[in-house]
Amino acid sequence: MTNNTRENFSSKLGAVLAAAGSAVGLGNIWRFPIETGQNGGAAFIIIYIACVFLLGIPIMMSEFFIGRHTHTNTAGAYRKLAPNTQWKWVGRLGVLSGFVILSYYSVVAGWTAEYTRLAICNAFDGKNATDFPSIFNTFVSNPWKSVSWMFAFMIVTHIIVIRGVKGGIEKFSKIMMPALFVILIVLAVCSVMLPGASKGLEFMLKPDFSKITASAWLSAMGQAFFSLSLGLGCLCTYGSYFRSDTNIGKTALNVAIIDTFVAIMSGFIIFPAVFNAGYAISSNDIGPSLLFITMPNVFQQAFGSLPLLSYAVSVLFYFLLVVAALTSTISMHEVVTAYVSEEFAMSRRKAAAIVTITCSAVGLLCALSFGPFSEFKLLGMTIFDFFDYVSSNLMLPIGGMFISLFAGWYLDKRLLRDEITNHGTLRVPYLRMVIFILRYLAPIAIAIILLNQLGLFHRG
Ligand code: PFF
Repeated sequence: MTNNTRENFSSKLGAVLAAAGSAVGLGNIWRFPIETGQNGGAAFIIIYIACVFLLGIPIMMSEFFIGRHTHTNTAGAYRKLAPNTQWKWVGRLGVLSGFVILSYYSVVAGWTAEYTRLAICNAFDGKNATDFPSIFNTFVSNPWKSVSWMFAFMIVTHIIVIRGVKGGIEKFSKIMMPALFVILIVLAVCSVMLPGASKGLEFMLKPDFSKITASAWLSAMGQAFFSLSLGLGCLCTYGSYFRSDTNIGKTALNVAIIDTFVAIMSGFIIFPAVFNAGYAISSNDIGPSLLFITMPNVFQQAFGSLPLLSYAVSVLFYFLLVVAALTSTISMHEVVTAYVSEEFAMSRRKAAAIVTITCSAVGLLCALSFGPFSEFKLLGMTIFDFFDYVSSNLMLPIGGMFISLFAGWYLDKRLLRDEITNHGTLRVPYLRMVIFILRYLAPIAIAIILLNQLGLFHRG
């Protein structure tokens, strides 16, 4: 069900910044440096960029044009383009993935807010490596604190979403994304000027091609999916708010460039500082410990002789995380809100309230899985880890594979051409390559990631 009063992004820049806001998130600042650290540094960055441009951009273009052509939420979009078929499940899977990711992502987002508060209160001053693990563990195992921050984050997300596509999402992205770029550059400059930074830079910039293994390729593809927000219908929903003159290829390229730029700049913040403090990004840094245990200590050590600088860098870093997380949570909330509002014919406000309440309830279980529910396991994982694993490793790649099959095989090629060239008004010389990737390269590559997730290949 669509309605005639459906909003659009008011400008092309607004569309790019909103989609880039969805893409830029904890995945760039947290997961990307860890993956880079574990997969050989510069060599990983090169193959990551190849995955973003070869696989990510064509799938992103498909999500955009499916959304723009149908002008409806992601579940409605597949139903409209493929009536009376099972393709509707691709859209529904996307909505479910958005719901699941939002539930656990808002827990970590809440932690970034608490750490911003701690940084503002100068709580890291004078602490050393042995203090930070206990600060973090005490915080996450305290049900009141982590649950309250998760709720607070959800409510801020809710407020932005109910203000609408133009007045909420687009406006917020237009203010916050430039702020995020400025903070990112300031922090990267501070980090690069540290003594010993050159070791960190060398790690990021000097490729050792012997490190490019099958496992590194698989990690790079998985990271590209998560980081670009692909496979879940988020970009399909945002595409449904694009104006008819939006250049889909150029928008996808700009979003991919911004997302990759933020990931690499995060590396420029984290690696020089980490190397300066004598750490190695190792498997111990998997999970929350890089951001919430290693980094606050690194800032203390790296800038410790200049307490004001160490204070400013810590506050800016955690604020950066809050902004990056918020632009992503609003995009996930929007996927589910648009679905509930349009498919069940209810007002946006009511739909958003339902999404906020149900997601908070599931988020509560995720938050508590670090404390009172830590013994409750699903397939040997806590609720938080289970949701993270199932959504990022299975739901997103499955979604991405079906999106590429849908765009590459099911849809009429003329529809794809019309949408990407804006009905013949744009010259798109790379169109055949995009079709080739959607038909062959993307589904095969993703099938390989999935088989690997299911343990059919050995990593190494
Ligand atoms: N791309 C976001 C990040 O890098 O943190 C995470 C994300 C947002 C994944 C929205 C999926 C999504 F639909």
